Amino acid sequence: MIQLKVSTLNAFRETSDPLAVFAFEDGGVSAPGLVPALRKQLVERAKIDAFKGKAGEIARVQASDGGRERSFILVGLGKRRSLKAEGLRKAGGALSRYAKRRFKSIGVLPAGDAQALGEGLLLASYRFAEYLKPEEDAVLAEAVIVAAQGSDKARLEGAARKAGVYADAVCFARDLVNRGPSDKTPEQMGKVAQGLAGSGISVDIISPEEAKKLGMGSYLSVARGSAQPPCFVHLTYKPKGARRKIGLVGKGITFDSGGLSLKPPQSMEDMKCDMAGAAAVLGAFKALASLKLKVEVHGFCAFTYNMPGPDATKPGDVVRAMNGKTIEILNTDAEGRLVLADALVYATKQGLDAMIDAATLTGAAVIALGSKVSAAMTNNPALLNRVVAASKKAGEDLWELPLVPEYLDGIKGNISDLRNISKVRGEAGTIIGGLFLQEFVDGKPWVHLDIAGPAFHGGESDYCPAGGTGVMVRTFLEYLAAV
Ligand code: BES
Ligand code: MN
Ligand code: ZN
Repeated sequence: MIQLKVSTLNAFRETSDPLAVFAFEDGGVSAPGLVPALRKQLVERAKIDAFKGKAGEIARVQASDGGRERSFILVGLGKRRSLKAEGLRKAGGALSRYAKRRFKSIGVLPAGDAQALGEGLLLASYRFAEYLKPEEDAVLAEAVIVAAQGSDKARLEGAARKAGVYADAVCFARDLVNRGPSDKTPEQMGKVAQGLAGSGISVDIISPEEAKKLGMGSYLSVARGSAQPPCFVHLTYKPKGARRKIGLVGKGITFDSGGLSLKPPQSMEDMKCDMAGAAAVLGAFKALASLKLKVEVHGFCAFTYNMPGPDATKPGDVVRAMNGKTIEILNTDAEGRLVLADALVYATKQGLDAMIDAATLTGAAVIALGSKVSAAMTNNPALLNRVVAASKKAGEDLWELPLVPEYLDGIKGNISDLRNISKVRGEAGTIIGGLFLQEFVDGKPWVHLDIAGPAFHGGESDYCPAGGTGVMVRTFLEYLAAV
């Protein structure tokens, strides 16, 4: 990731670095501090490249500013009126990708939300490098947000700092998702979580033996097919003066082979991403202390592989979850709900005001909403409203699906309380997942986020390279900041 700095226009004028300025489709360059004649000149010259100021457009123009020749990078923002924070994030992403192989350092005269712009610049420059040599053709090392007036500098520094904390947290989650599945055993993930301890955060590891004593039979059943033991992590952030107590719960399947209900090869290719929910929880914890949020936060990550080893759970097996409910496992590939069931019961016992889970739970969510939008389900509309407001700020789209009570019949068991897949096949798979989880929250305020689509992308998008996206880290943080 590049560095984000802040400087003043006067100081920046001493450099010969290119300066990025933003332009609107419906007229004008937004570059306070530049003389109007120069702004006009930039637009005129950019027209030669057919630059219209549309969102995502970029043009490079030479012009002289205060007697010094300089490269300007014009970045389109689209229509002035429809510009939102997400538009600036995308523009920052486009600029970052454009500059990556061309310049060592760029200045950016911000327009609008500087934090969102900074997030876009940083997040788009992320690269997963654990298995690679240093990149030789990438040259961009820093972006300097330029304050037109000295009096803007402190505000921009605050925005840049926050963008840095957010981007670090997201990229921490991306790194974990992108890592090969054998390099992130549940125990290793426990160590990663322990690395977050300090400055108000404590980390408690619940061993398989303790989990057994607690009655987490549903969670443990998923781990039976793996040679690697599971690892349940409970993180606590407890600042002084906190008035609310919130739980974040993450699905942490470090690889989902499907178990004995084995997935076909193609469906397995990206299943290292099945711990993206837990990675989002850990990512949020990475930022909590530096943001100094005044809310008590508990994180619960249920890590395990889902493998078809010799002692694997067999279709037809009945297990008992921590709240006493019994589950007939008819498909070992519907394992996310099994680990979350116990994680949610464990969480409800902590006396939380609200809890949110994030899980790559169902392929049906990908079919319904695609790779941009996560499915949201809740037993508490007021809580969901707050989560949706946070997701809008973060530019991470959610769409609510109803927890249709009638569909619960499909997962009522014959020889057990519940079955882990519905008797009705091929219908409302994402809702079924949500209804199953609802049986384990004891009526407490809860939102379930099925992030199966947005968690992992096959190709590059606006401010995210291919692979893990770190989705929900920023939604969690915005939600916690507004609680
Ligand atoms: N981890 C998968 C869901 C998934 C699919 C995540 C695609 C990301 C991309 C989950 O454990 C799973 O296998 N779900 C099954 C449930 C079914 C057996 C009821 C599915 O969606 O097919
Ligand atoms: Mn599965
Ligand atoms: Zn899974």
